[in-house]
Amino acid sequence: MTAIGIDYGTSNSEVVYFDGKQHQLIKLDPLSSTPLKIRSSVFVYYEDELPLPPAELVEAKVAQLQRAIGDKLEKAKDGYYSASDPKEQQIYSNRIDSLRGDFHNRPKLQQQAIHLLMEDMTVQDLPLAKLVETGEFLFGEAGFRRYLKSPEKGRLIYSPKNFLGASLLDGQQQAFEGMIAKQLAYFKQCAEQQLDKKVTTAVIGRPVKFHGTRGEQGNIQAITIMRAAAKLAGFERVEFLEEPIAAAYNIESQLPKATNVLVVDIGGGTTDICCIKLSPERLLALDRQQDVLSVTGTRIGGMECDKNLITKAIAPSMGLGTTFGNNLPVPPTYFSDMCAVDNIPRLNEFFSDEYGLEIAQTKSVSSHPELLQRLLIVQTEKLSARLVNSARLAKEMLSNKQGVTLPLKYIQDDYDVDITTDDLKRSMNSWLAKVKKLIRECLDNSSEAPEMLFITGGMSLSPIVQQEVMDMLPGLPLMQGDAFNSVCQGLSIQAAKL
Ligand SMILES: Nc1ncnc2c1ncn2[C@@H]1O[C@H](COP(=O)(O)OP(=O)(O)OP(=O)(O)O)[C@@H](O)[C@H]1O
Ligand SMILES: [Mg+2]
Repeated sequence: MTAIGIDYGTSNSEVVYFDGKQHQLIKLDPLSSTPLKIRSSVFVYYEDELPLPPAELVEAKVAQLQRAIGDKLEKAKDGYYSASDPKEQQIYSNRIDSLRGDFHNRPKLQQQAIHLLMEDMTVQDLPLAKLVETGEFLFGEAGFRRYLKSPEKGRLIYSPKNFLGASLLDGQQQAFEGMIAKQLAYFKQCAEQQLDKKVTTAVIGRPVKFHGTRGEQGNIQAITIMRAAAKLAGFERVEFLEEPIAAAYNIESQLPKATNVLVVDIGGGTTDICCIKLSPERLLALDRQQDVLSVTGTRIGGMECDKNLITKAIAPSMGLGTTFGNNLPVPPTYFSDMCAVDNIPRLNEFFSDEYGLEIAQTKSVSSHPELLQRLLIVQTEKLSARLVNSARLAKEMLSNKQGVTLPLKYIQDDYDVDITTDDLKRSMNSWLAKVKKLIRECLDNSSEAPEMLFITGGMSLSPIVQQEVMDMLPGLPLMQGDAFNSVCQGLSIQAAKL
């Protein structure tokens, strides 16, 4: 039995194998400059034609075509009875025969129906379940690049993990199971090739609370989906471990003595925190729940920062804060809807023709139509995921620079936006307040005080975040670790114990 750790993240995923002494990080994304982690987004697409429409839709269209033929038939009959001479009557009679033939020719009607339905159909119209069942899958950079090249050929699911705890419509739960199964199967295949062993077992990380507003019900749904996906991917056994606890295991071997550690894992989708008793003597114990002093988490992660950065630093150049008509403010919801890449129904509504019409009408009486034009382009060309990705890049670059010029040429040729660290800091204020509140909550729930701080997750690379967290915990020594791999290495340590 070979067991691996899988950190299935909102933004990035990692896979690690631990042989009891060393960690082997699995290469997942050959096209990326950081091949040991892979973007969690999935691009489902069609190389050529879209799949045939569902049978019920075809039947409804056939009935519609038959009704139209029926109307013509009635008119031809009227013509026949009111014809003034036998020649004219013969013409109507032939027409009636031909229309009756058409009415009963089901194969031809079905062909016509499919043709008409396909003419109007785009990938966006396909239900997620159909897309997952019939589309081709591309992961990581390969998927994202294909999405940038031909977005109309498929659909980018920016962060499948974001949806696991949410209210899902009929068929969507299965669609996510199928989609994530494909990702997990790909991870398993990479691990098996690189380890040269059959992999049967996985310890998968889980946030303390999944993204969603449905509390424990959402958590149960998320674990059910992940478990079903892992099974479909061919894993025989799967266990789950809370992500901050996994990160803690990874630093345990470096501690000289028993230490209470506060672990803060700030990822793309969630912030997860635990206060845990770590000790070199407890390294091999399988169940460590009694060592957990407190654990908490919530759905605030880096993606929220990306959206906030759009609102604060980019949306003003798309019309936010301007007025229209009788000095009314342009609705701020236009811009929050534009960024709803983690809410499929809301984003679909934003991409709808009616929504586009509303923006166009607002633009026509706007004080700054040239700015709203950019919003309209994002709407009509469905560029939301691309824009959120640009904001993410700007945020990451601002970890090492005081200012960046963000090119947004895919919206307009000469469109770029200057963003400074001050802009970023301002946009992060409310988000940081929530992160700090969560840290405070974890500390308050812990019966013992921490003696060390460990911050991990991609957002821990932001100097703004580091500073804020350290400022609220003066004097607590900081332990450094890998921002992206700590959780997964900890998961692989747990996997090796099974
Ligand atoms: N250099 C950087 N500076 C600031 N933020 C960064 C940097 N590098 C990555 N990030 C941010 O970190 C987040 C991703 O972190 P990580 O890979 O730990 O998340 P995840 O594990 O996929 O998500 P989660 O654990 O919430 O499911 C993203 O929001 C990303 O923009
Ligand atoms: Mg994570």
